[in-house]
Amino acid sequence: MCGIIARIGADDAFPRVLTGLENLEYRGYDSAGVALQNGSGLSVFKCSGKVEDLKDRVDGAKLGGNIGIGHTRWSTHGPPSDSNAHPHTNEDGDVAVVHNGIIENHQILRERLENRGVRFESDTDTEVIPHLIDAHYDENTDPRDAFVATLRDLEGSYAVAAVFDDEDAVFAARRGSPLVLGLGESQYFLASDVPAFLEYTDRVVYFEDGDVVTVRPNGAQVTTMDGEHVEREIETVDWDPEETGKGGYEHYMLKEIESQPTSLTNTIKGRVSPESGSVDLDALTPETISEFREVQFVACGTSYHAALYGSTLLNEAGVRARAYRASEYQMGSDPVTDETLVVAVTQSGETADTLGAMRRASRGGATVLAVTNVMGSSAARAADETVYIHAGPEIGVAATKTFSSQTVTLGLLAHRLSEHMGGEDRGEPLDLALDALADLPDDLGRMLDGSDAERITNRYLGSDAYFFIGRGLGYPVAKESALKFKEITYEHAEGFASGELKHGPLALVTPRTPVFAVFTGEHDEKTLKNAKEAQTRGADVVAVAEEGHPAVDATDAHLPIPDTAPQWAGLLANVQLQLVSYHAANELGRSIDKPRNLAKSVTVE
Ligand code: F6R
Repeated sequence: MCGIIARIGADDAFPRVLTGLENLEYRGYDSAGVALQNGSGLSVFKCSGKVEDLKDRVDGAKLGGNIGIGHTRWSTHGPPSDSNAHPHTNEDGDVAVVHNGIIENHQILRERLENRGVRFESDTDTEVIPHLIDAHYDENTDPRDAFVATLRDLEGSYAVAAVFDDEDAVFAARRGSPLVLGLGESQYFLASDVPAFLEYTDRVVYFEDGDVVTVRPNGAQVTTMDGEHVEREIETVDWDPEETGKGGYEHYMLKEIESQPTSLTNTIKGRVSPESGSVDLDALTPETISEFREVQFVACGTSYHAALYGSTLLNEAGVRARAYRASEYQMGSDPVTDETLVVAVTQSGETADTLGAMRRASRGGATVLAVTNVMGSSAARAADETVYIHAGPEIGVAATKTFSSQTVTLGLLAHRLSEHMGGEDRGEPLDLALDALADLPDDLGRMLDGSDAERITNRYLGSDAYFFIGRGLGYPVAKESALKFKEITYEHAEGFASGELKHGPLALVTPRTPVFAVFTGEHDEKTLKNAKEAQTRGADVVAVAEEGHPAVDATDAHLPIPDTAPQWAGLLANVQLQLVSYHAANELGRSIDKPRNLAKSVTVE
């Protein structure tokens, strides 16, 4: 939530700060702003609305300055408004600050400053920072000292960057919110996430909590809060800059749905050998795995649905596994021991609820494995071990390709765990249908090319509600499809275990509530029976099933999926249903890539 960027170089910073903000807008899009410094002053432009609105606002203004900071906001304290937009400044306007995170003691700090006569312009927690810097700058002659003294006053989380009107530098720090340095050709970037500057450099430095960084046009220096020099490794990101653009598509979401044959190939590459039946994940030795007695998955939203898929696969192999919503897991429902493996599933690696669940797991003595898409993310850093899903950057707020890559990665993990868990008593390892898995990218490509989802979706637009049902591995798909549908169409949608319909939800079913039924090749007779129960109440049923499946003739419409193993049919069905959500939202004219009230990286609990 919230994206920050800073750019330091020899030429004008503004165009690159703006590109960075556009690439970070998935993190929040309530308001946007920039501050530019040209050695003789600061210019600040900010407004509520999107980066596009900011562009209109600065139209024609003089925007020189080789140092710039920028911010795109998802509001926590104070509604979206021009005055609540970042950057925030001190009263004289000679210090500007952008911040991602939450300053928990802001109220006390604000009162203290107000008692000294400081006048605030906004309702935000962030605004205390420039005023504190100002106050400390009066006592110190060094801007860095004033910045660090301010950090010492703050409780809560931050990735923060500050510029002064007369200092050729950006001062930044991280505690609990992401911050990464990009090392370009004679220019440096600081940002919440790599896509902000990926078109200029793939060389990055990830910071640790407590790092303070000073970036000048000729170099960057990292220290602790106490001023001790620290070395941080330079890493190379293997993401393709092309992936952060729309590539001719109207929406990132459609581009990301259609890129799944490639992203899945990258997820599987080098990890699966159908010939030898082996799976290599480069994490957890067989000896470590044999110590585990149970697996607990923790995740939120779409990642939780991938976790449900993973736990269902493990259960099928006789391994004790359960998926928890990370926000509830923290309440401490089930015991955690040193024989528990906790798998944190998080695309961004920055979700506060999931990070909290990981902390609870570690306190309980569990081994924590992160399954994430983002190198250097907080989850990757906090975990004992990490497995990357290699889906490439996902910009659309609605997760699509990362769900598929998470599901496959968790399948691979489930296979490995089932091979070694349970000691002497262990049963057969999970059958992962490796041939079918290797064929998945091609299957997906064919299905996407011939998809009829738009026509079928249009037939049902204007309904009162949309229901999705499935059983076994079809259940997480039903839940995920309903989440996607409500998230981007703003229409009412629900996902149910198909057997549960008759225990209550059937009361909602009418001729104006289409039911999308997922058929995976397992338990299908029962799912069909439940679908017919809805049909009898007047609802149209859309079967998401292979060609020639008995459900096709028995229902009202068909979204075909390629012939595959039951382990992977749900994944293909989910992609058809991603298209249903997309086309419905497009027809309704929704803000598909940036749905209202949401942000991609949810860093508050
Ligand atoms: C929905 C969606 C969210 C995220 C959830 C967890 O399309 O994207 O439900 O899945 O906020 O995010 P991560 O995976 O980053 O932990």
